[in-house]
Amino acid sequence: MKILKFRDKKEAIEKASTIIIDLIKKNPKAVLGLATGGTMVPLYKKIAKEYKKQNLDFSKLKTFNLDEYAGIKDPLTNRNSYHYYMDKNIFSKVNIQKRNINFPSASEPDYDKQIKRVGGLDLCLLGIGRNGHIAFNEPGSSFKSITRKVKLTDNTIKANSRFFRSTKQVPREAYTMGISTILKSKKIILLAFGNKKAKAIKKVVKEKVSKRVPASILHKHNNTTLILDSRAASLI
Ligand code: F6R
Repeated sequence: MKILKFRDKKEAIEKASTIIIDLIKKNPKAVLGLATGGTMVPLYKKIAKEYKKQNLDFSKLKTFNLDEYAGIKDPLTNRNSYHYYMDKNIFSKVNIQKRNINFPSASEPDYDKQIKRVGGLDLCLLGIGRNGHIAFNEPGSSFKSITRKVKLTDNTIKANSRFFRSTKQVPREAYTMGISTILKSKKIILLAFGNKKAKAIKKVVKEKVSKRVPASILHKHNNTTLILDSRAASLI
């Protein structure tokens, strides 16, 4: 596991966007696994900016989002869905083709097979929960898990309530890529910023691989880079 520490979030975002854009330039047909959440907002903003500045072509990219809430009606227009988030933060700003965009859902029971059919993920972009989750693979998730419907923990519901009017409105279930789905990606980058992520990063970096900290399994992947700001890296 490679660990890159940066003075601040801005420098970390620069690095992450360079890695992703270089990969797309080298392989315009790349297959990407994409996270949502607060961490990725400035990254998608930067990528959209570079897309325009460098006149990039995203038309052949294929994307598979890591997760989506279950039971959300009309995910494309529902402001709390990850479909909506992705459209607002990146998809509407670049020439990605709708047919190349994928989200896990009840109507996509073969998500892992679909990913395999297009050659597997070339890059998987991850954030991390304060409890060490990756995508919505909460503590205790099997390292062999594939894409499935899961129950969110109270911690995650609370952490995500900042995007909703109240905690009550946060869906209790979600569809998520599994840990084995993520580990099959050829390259993984995990971004973490701020003090609130410092304990989780410490557990990932300093402690043994354990199901209690899902992200710790990334030690077993041969091409993973953690991109951290100084606050998230303050305990390592
Ligand atoms: C969302 C996802 C989650 C988030 C994590 C951190 O697609 O995969 O695992 O990456 O919950 O969320 P933020 O960035 O909001 O702190």
